[in-house]
Parts: sequence; structure tokens; C-alpha cells
Amino acid sequence: MGLQQKIGYISLVIIFSLAMAAAIEAAQPPFACNSSNPSTKKLTFCSTELPIKQRAEDLVSRLTLDEKVSQLVNDAPAIPRLGIPAYQWWSESLHGVADAGLGVSFEGTIHAATSFPQVILTAASFDAHLWYRIGQAIGKEARAVYNQGQAQGMTFWAPNINIFRDPRWGRGQETPGEDPLVTGRYGVSYVRGVQGDSFEGGGKLVNEGHLQASACCKHMTAYDLDRWDNITRYIFDAQVTPQDLADTYQPPFRSCIEEGRASGIMCAYNRVNGVPNCANYNLLTKTAREKWGFYGYITSDCDAVSIIYDDQGYAKDPEDAVVDVLKAGMDLNCGSYLKNHTKSAVQQKKLPEAEIDRALHNLFSIRMRLGLFNGNPSQFVFSSIGPSQVCSKEHQSLALEAAQNGIVLLKNDANLLPLPCRRTTPISLAVIGPNANSSQTLLGNYHGPPCTSISLLHALESYVTSPLRYHPGCNGVACSSALINDAVNIANEAEYVVLIMGLDQSQEREDHDRVDLVLPGKQKNLIIAVARAAKKPVVLVLVCGGPLDVSFAEDDDNIGSILWVGYPGEAGGVALAQIIFGDHNPGGRLPITWYPKDFIKVPMTDMRMRSDPYSGYPGRTYRFYQGKKVFEFGHGISYSTYSYSFIAVSLNEFHLTSMTAMKVSENSDSTRYVLAPEKGSKFCERMKFLAIIGVKNHGVMAGKHPVLLFVRREKVTHGSPMKQLVGFQALSLKAGERAEIEFLLSPCEHLSRADEHGVLVMEIGTHFLVVGDQEYPINVVA
Ligand SMILES: *[C@@H]1O[C@H](CO)[C@@H](O)[C@H](O)[C@H]1NC(C)=O
Ligand SMILES: *[C@@H]1O[C@H](CO)[C@@H](O)[C@H](O)[C@H]1NC(C)=O
Ligand SMILES: *[C@@H]1O[C@H](CO)[C@@H](O)[C@H](O)[C@H]1NC(C)=O
Ligand SMILES: *[C@@H]1O[C@H](CO)[C@@H](O)[C@H](O)[C@H]1NC(C)=O
Repeated sequence: MGLQQKIGYISLVIIFSLAMAAAIEAAQPPFACNSSNPSTKKLTFCSTELPIKQRAEDLVSRLTLDEKVSQLVNDAPAIPRLGIPAYQWWSESLHGVADAGLGVSFEGTIHAATSFPQVILTAASFDAHLWYRIGQAIGKEARAVYNQGQAQGMTFWAPNINIFRDPRWGRGQETPGEDPLVTGRYGVSYVRGVQGDSFEGGGKLVNEGHLQASACCKHMTAYDLDRWDNITRYIFDAQVTPQDLADTYQPPFRSCIEEGRASGIMCAYNRVNGVPNCANYNLLTKTAREKWGFYGYITSDCDAVSIIYDDQGYAKDPEDAVVDVLKAGMDLNCGSYLKNHTKSAVQQKKLPEAEIDRALHNLFSIRMRLGLFNGNPSQFVFSSIGPSQVCSKEHQSLALEAAQNGIVLLKNDANLLPLPCRRTTPISLAVIGPNANSSQTLLGNYHGPPCTSISLLHALESYVTSPLRYHPGCNGVACSSALINDAVNIANEAEYVVLIMGLDQSQEREDHDRVDLVLPGKQKNLIIAVARAAKKPVVLVLVCGGPLDVSFAEDDDNIGSILWVGYPGEAGGVALAQIIFGDHNPGGRLPITWYPKDFIKVPMTDMRMRSDPYSGYPGRTYRFYQGKKVFEFGHGISYSTYSYSFIAVSLNEFHLTSMTAMKVSENSDSTRYVLAPEKGSKFCERMKFLAIIGVKNHGVMAGKHPVLLFVRREKVTHGSPMKQLVGFQALSLKAGERAEIEFLLSPCEHLSRADEHGVLVMEIGTHFLVVGDQEYPINVVA
């Protein structure tokens, strides 16, 4: 570049930068109560000194019926006469700020967001603090997008905390797995992180619950079937026992609301025992609001109101559907049904206007808690969060940390991994498989544009010095045809072979459940042939959300190692390469049971968790499933081995009746039990006890190891789980290091289960705390 050109270039840059600065300044986020506008700033609802309750009441009282009705849908229009801008309620942020909803745009200064691993993999870290930090990062990036004028709303419809009940579920990948405690804890951590944690120690909201961004616990409740055998979520009527509701389906929602203080709930499409979730007064009002103290808004899933009339025939006409949902306590309709039919419901005198006011009060309270009615938003606590916080180095390394700590080593015969070679030593490596060269697949669903995009192949390539050989092996993930000879030729010539197989969104996704549990098409044939031809045992990498029956690979000596990487997000490739080449010690553990392929004999529509020996129903999840497993919940090995010991448990025996004066009842199978006192009651607080566990890393590598503490009962009676997770903590230990960790346990919560009526009970008898191969007995006596 000559001097003249350079000057020209520099001035161009300056002009461009000025233009950019102007554009950035112009991109103001939408807000109400503009303090430079004399006609609106004096309105009572704009007065930030008043309680939000009073402000919302004032606002709602000013609206005409038409204006009110217009605000009941996700696409809420502006009300210019009151200076209220349009608002888009639907935004998504499942594992990073996404453009899967309508509220966020990546066309502007911010054109990407940190893409964390799909939730099922993040869950495998069993690290609640990691989940919280991810929530914080997502909430910050969400606020930055709004501050930059690229968001029409700040209400995000995540987390998905439905129990991953059936391995075929296309959306199981979005959830933290099959365990109610893990799922609840994930929800709490994520929500607190996203919302900005406006808590006091006691879980009370401060600043009237100001929100960094609003999170939403979805989909309430017992929703975990999308489209299977021609049954869709729109028409499915889930038959759920009070028992399973009480100790499986509902606890994550309860935690998300009580402890997470979520500001949103989404009611699901499906019916439960005949009643559409969005029309269930008992669920939305009696349980969520009154019993759990929910403070926020309830949205329908998209078009979940229209189906109540159109598909389910539950309501006799459209107005009845509107009345059903508003009277049940739903506040917002994703879709347009309420916009179309609410006014006529009022005119037909079916719907009191007070029901609309109640919903609007909840809706405007959220927008106020988000600071969108505070005048110029630069006054609000979160207004300084700028674009530099999006895809920051810190967030990108958090995405890497999540992938590193989630990836699960399922098999590692003869310590095949880590490969004994590093960047510096030339090795010959062949990479084979249809999932090797797609960075898009790593993002799963509900993602935005990631900060960086590296395929697994590319990440492995950057680790080796000599050229790597690659072949996709299949004509796609469905693998209707496999190019076995080509793949075998490549495998023959390499010292090490990594096969990158599994699923993608063409196989498991929203609105599409799987019909089997095996690898698609000819993937298995390809794997077996390549493994047989290779010089050494091969490494098999499985990309998938839901589990696969890979027992053939578990048993095949030619397959030395198996790794499950979920959909590991933008940093998944780097994490995998680090694990394969020994720069990171894997520690993830499966958050779901991997069932054998004949599990599909069980209809996906059967919601029962508990097994039924009379009909041969095997039950579901590690808590109740009686059959053979490919891999167990919690399975996951490491380059280190860890040992455990019980150091101390602060209580060995509970004398229940002397403490509670409770009546001991007896079941038909002569199990004796008492009603469990309410969680959080004085009695339960007093009964809490500590278990101190020693953990040692016997390996030569430092590692992060999730410790899972279970309870099992000496006698597994019908209705009690075989075992039950009661605590988990991820612990970092150096090579050879030993440490102690404490678990605070509450008998009311951790030693209880639901009876047939959905009432929590504690059984009399011996319970064992279980960690690894160690057990510690606790006697519950009456
Ligand atoms: C606030 O009001 C001023 C004066 O009417 C106007 O110039 C400005 O565009 C308004 N800002 C917003 C975000 O509405
Ligand atoms: C599902 O419906 C389609 C179209 O109606 C039909 O061809 C197919 O056989 C059905 N499948 C099952 C499993 O019932
Ligand atoms: C609401 O009415 C509009 C306009 O008539 C129509 O396009 C839309 O499909 C209706 N929405 C529903 C959910 O029926
Ligand atoms: C991997 O995929 C990218 C993008 O689709 C493509 O450009 C590249 O050639 C592929 N790499 C190999 C080795 O086939």
C-alpha cells in the first residue's frame, strides 16, 4: 500500500467508523415512559418510586377493551397514545441467546452469541455452579442484545425442564436428563443466572424482582412426547398417576419456581388426565401461583390455545377455549387465538373483563421488572451491559469448559485414550464418519449464530502435524448407503482411527421422536468394518442427544474407546480434541439411562414411571427401570480412577414418631410409613443432617469429578425407587489428591417418595446412603 492509498484508506476507515457510531447510537432499545416526552412521563405507571403492583394497575385501568385484547398475544402492538412501544414476548435462549424466537435479531452490531453445549451435555457435568455461570452469561448477552436495540423483548422461553422420560423423545436433548433432582437444580441455576439473581439469602426477591432478562420454566407439565406413531403433542392425553406427578413430573417445576424464582412458566400442548395444561386451573393457579408462590406470567406454548378447540375438541367453541385458559390462570397466548376470540367472549358474557385485567397485570409487571417502563433505559441497573460482553473471551471459555466437563467417556479398554501423541509428534490419524465435518450439527436445536464455528474434524486436524485422512463413510447421517471400502482403505493406512458417528436433527428434533434406538442406516456396518480393518482398536465418538443402543460396540474388542459428546456447542470440537489427546481429563457422567433397543416395545405413550411386574412393563429411568441397560445413569469413566469413603454422617437413626407424633400406616405389602412433613417446615429444617464424604483421585492427571450421592432402601417395595439421587457435587482434584465434601440432606425431601395419592411419605426401615461402592445405613424407626 502506497502512502497516498494509505491516507485514503485511513480516512475511509474514519468515515466508516463515524457512520458506524451514528448507527449504533441510533439503534436505541424500545422503552416506555420516555422522560423527554412531556405527555407520557407524568403517567402514574411511569413513576418508578411506586410499587410495580400499583403501576401495573394504573396502566391496565387506562386501556380500552380493544387495547387490552391486543396485549394478550406474543406479538403485542404499541399503544402510541400512552407511549408504550410494541413488545415481542417470544425469544429463545436454551443454551445461548438464539434467534429461534421472534424477539431477537442478529442483524446489527451483534451478529452472534455464545453457543453453549446443548443442555443434555451440560447436565452431564453435574455441576450446578457451572450451570449458574452459563445462565449468567446468557442473561448478560441477552441484555446486551436489548441494549443494542436488537431485541423487541426480554422474555426468554427457557429452560426446558421436562423429565427425559422416554429415550426416543426428539426434544430430550434440550433437557437436563431423567432425574428430577438434577432437572430441578439445573432449572434453579439457569434461571437465577439469567434473571440476575435479585435475591436475598432467604430467597426473597429484592428490588421488586428486577430482571436482567426473564426466564421461563417450560413446558408444564408431563410433556415429553412430540410426534410418535402418529400421535402428536397436540392431541396427546397423557395419563399420569398422582404418584408420578408428585415425585417425578412436578418437582423440577416446583424448584424452578420456589427456589429459582422464575418469572415465567409455559403451559404445554398436551392434556394431562383429560385436561389441557393451559386450561388447568388446578395446575396454573392452585399449584403454581398459590402453593408455590409463583410471581410472573404464564404463556401458552405456540398455538396451544387454538388446539383446545381445533384439535382436542375440549372446548365447544373458540370463546370457550379462551375462557378456559384465562380462567385457569394463563396470561399470554403465543399465537393469535386470544386476539381473535377474546372480545367476542366478553361480548357473549362468557368472560368477565376482570380475567383479562388479571392477565395484563401479570404481563405489564414483567415488562416493568425488566426496566422497560423506567424512562430512558440508561437509568436501569443493567443498562451498562454492552456488545463487548457478547462472545467475550470469558463466555467463550465458559462454553469450552462446559463441553470439556460434559463429554462422557463410556469405554476405554487398555487405556487406548488419551492417544499417546501430541501436536509435536507426527502421528497418522484417520477420521471417519458423517458427523465429523459439520459444525452446525454441534449446535443442536434452538441456537443462534455461534461466536466461532469449528467442526470436530477441523479441531482434531489442528492437533496433529501430519495431514489427517478423512472420509465421511456414509452419504449422510441417515446413512442409507455406506462407502465401506473407501473408509476401510483409509483406516488401513492410519495408525489411529477416530469414527465420528451418531445422530443429528434429521433423526431427533422437535416434532419428531425416534422410532428406534439404534444407529441410523448402515452406520453400524461401517463402524464394525472399519474397526476390524484398523491397525489398532478404534475410538468411537457418538454425537447425539438421546441415547443409542451401542452394545455391539461395547462388546467389540476392536473398538477401544467410546465417547459421548452430545451436541457440544461451538467449542465442542476443541474440547473433544483436548480429551482425545490428553489435554483434558474427561469427567462427565450420563444424565440418562441408555436402554437396549428392545425397549421400544414399550409404547412411548405410557407415562408410568413405576414398573408393573404383572404386565411386564419395565418402568422408566434408573429409579424404576428393571431391565438390562446399555449404560447406566451416572456412568462415565475418566483417565483417573476415584475412590470414596464415608467420613461422617451426623445422624444414624431417626425416631420419627417421637419427633412428629405421627401415625404409622401400613401398606398392603406391609411397608410401614408416615406422612413426610412439608419440605421447608420447621421440623424438616431441624432434621437436616450432614454426610461427609472423602474422595481421592488415584490417577496421574488432575480431574474434575462429579460425586453422585444416592439413597436406596433395604427393601424395595412397590412404589419406592430402587435408588434415588439425593445430592451431587463436582470436585476438582489434582493427581493423587484427596478431599472431603459435605452434603446437607433433608430427610423430608431426600428420604421420601410419593404414595399412590401423590402424598409424600417416609418409609420405616433401613435406608442406605450410596456413593460408588460405599454404603452407609440410616435407620428410620417408629
Ligand atoms: C423520547 O422522546 C423524545 C422527545 O419526544 C424523542 O425525540 C425520542 O425519540 C423519544 N425516544 C424514544 C425511544 O421513544
Ligand atoms: C401414520 O399415518 C400415516 C398417514 O396417515 C400412515 O400412512 C401410517 O401408516 C401411520 N403410521 C402408523 C404407525 O400408524
Ligand atoms: C386469527 O385471525 C387471523 C385473521 O383472520 C387469521 O389469519 C389467524 O389464523 C387467526 N388465528 C388463529 C389462531 O386462528
Ligand atoms: C468440510 O466441510 C467444509 C464446509 O462444508 C468444506 O469446505 C470442506 O471441504 C470439508 N472438508 C473436507 C476435508 O471434506
